[in-house]
Amino acid sequence: VWTDFETATIKDIFSKLDSEVVGFSSRFLYRCLIVYPWTQRYFAKFGNLYNAAAIMGNPMVAAHGKTVVQGLELAVKNMDNIKATYADLSVLHSEKLRVDPDNFKLLADCITIVVAAQMGAGFTPEVQAAFQKFLAVVISALGKQYH
Ligand code: HEM
Repeated sequence: VWTDFETATIKDIFSKLDSEVVGFSSRFLYRCLIVYPWTQRYFAKFGNLYNAAAIMGNPMVAAHGKTVVQGLELAVKNMDNIKATYADLSVLHSEKLRVDPDNFKLLADCITIVVAAQMGAGFTPEVQAAFQKFLAVVISALGKQYH
């Protein structure tokens, strides 16, 4: 259950990310692959992820960042039904890709850091609380197949 403030905040963050923040989607994925290098192993087919420069210059990484944002936008559009919306994605990440679900939290933290850096003082504790609640629901829905 979402409060009006939470709903408005999440929608506002994603509407701004969409239009104003060029490269947002790639930046959080770069950060995840650099800060938590073991996450690179799932992206073997993306080729050279040898160092930060290689990661940030890799067009497949940038493209995949956009894919993840599209996944998040789907959750924003279906905020009251994220579990059902993510049913297929959860099966994909657990059964096919075999992503360790601990990594969802790490990626979510990278998303939070990039959003916070972008919003500056606008990222108040209340905004952070709403955003983290949203990401927690996303992670729980994505991890549904693991339980
Ligand atoms: C694919 C979303 C976390 C690894 C995808 C796709 C989406 C997505 C929308 C494309 C699915 C399709 O093609 O039908 C998300 C979201 C995440 C998340 C919303 C959490 C906030 C992770 C994490 C990892 C990961 C933490 C690994 C560390 C992958 C891989 C693919 C994939 C390897 C397939 C890439 C490809 O074959 O091109 N994810 N993901 N995901 N995801 Fe995630």
